[in-house]
Amino acid sequence: MTVDEILDAVATAAPEIRSGLPGRRTKTDEQNVSGERQLAADVWADELLGERIGAIDGVGHYASEEREDVEQVGEGHLVAVDPLDGSSNLLSNNPMGTIVGVYDDDIPTTGRSLVAAAYVLYGPITTMVVARDGAVTEYVVEDGKRRDVGAVSLPEDPTVYGFGGRVTDWPPAVEEYVTEIEAELKLRYGGAMIADVSQVLTYGGIFAYPMLQSRPSGKLRLLFEGAPIAFIVETAGGSSSNGAMSLLDVEATSVHQRTPVFVGNDDLVDRLEARV
Ligand code: AHG
Ligand code: MN
Ligand code: MN
Ligand code: MN
Repeated sequence: MTVDEILDAVATAAPEIRSGLPGRRTKTDEQNVSGERQLAADVWADELLGERIGAIDGVGHYASEEREDVEQVGEGHLVAVDPLDGSSNLLSNNPMGTIVGVYDDDIPTTGRSLVAAAYVLYGPITTMVVARDGAVTEYVVEDGKRRDVGAVSLPEDPTVYGFGGRVTDWPPAVEEYVTEIEAELKLRYGGAMIADVSQVLTYGGIFAYPMLQSRPSGKLRLLFEGAPIAFIVETAGGSSSNGAMSLLDVEATSVHQRTPVFVGNDDLVDRLEARV
């Protein structure tokens, strides 16, 4: 089954990516198509994942944050990858992750065509969270193998929130919303979406990289960040939004298209949508 092979390839690559990080904290002279300075680790993780995933029967196209265009590698699924999410945390030795979205349809598509989505979290331990077939499962990754450690579902009572971007760059409606919820929730923001979303999935709450006055579409990319994470959080019992609708309903027409991202408990997302 192709989806299993893709997920197993990511689990196998995870310890290799992790063990290769210490020697790849250097900034290259290159920028990716989103205008971000690439770390050696970004490029290397992308090369490793591109090679492994591209070689799987049933994978038709590979898209990555670190590559300009979608690459045809065969027939079948579109696999969209953020090889290292939060890679700027490598310099400060804070957690980061890898994100994978397995789509049935090529671009143009929406998150509704996702058949699976997963992230690897390089934290104190290496874990992998997989959403497929209506369920979210957490695995501990040891020796490149996935060990099921149980189902993931969003806690009913929210506890934490994390919003990216500068407060002075938030639209007034976003600032007013945060002022309201910060009386109820604890701030958890670490600069890697995967690590911040893991806090929300574990403790309940909301993560956002909102629309900004300087960047109305926000910072995060829909195809390999927003939609896969929305798929995971919604499958775990939560909600997602771009401010107006589920991120799974936002059409991706290009690989690096940006979108505001809000994911978390239904009530918190509903209250956000009522404001913006
Ligand atoms: P990436 O490292 O894949 O480019 O992603 C970084 C993203 C995301 O992980 C995180 O939520 C956000 O950038 C942090 O942005 P700021 O540094 O502006 O907080
Ligand atoms: Mn980047
Ligand atoms: Mn990212
Ligand atoms: Mn990245």
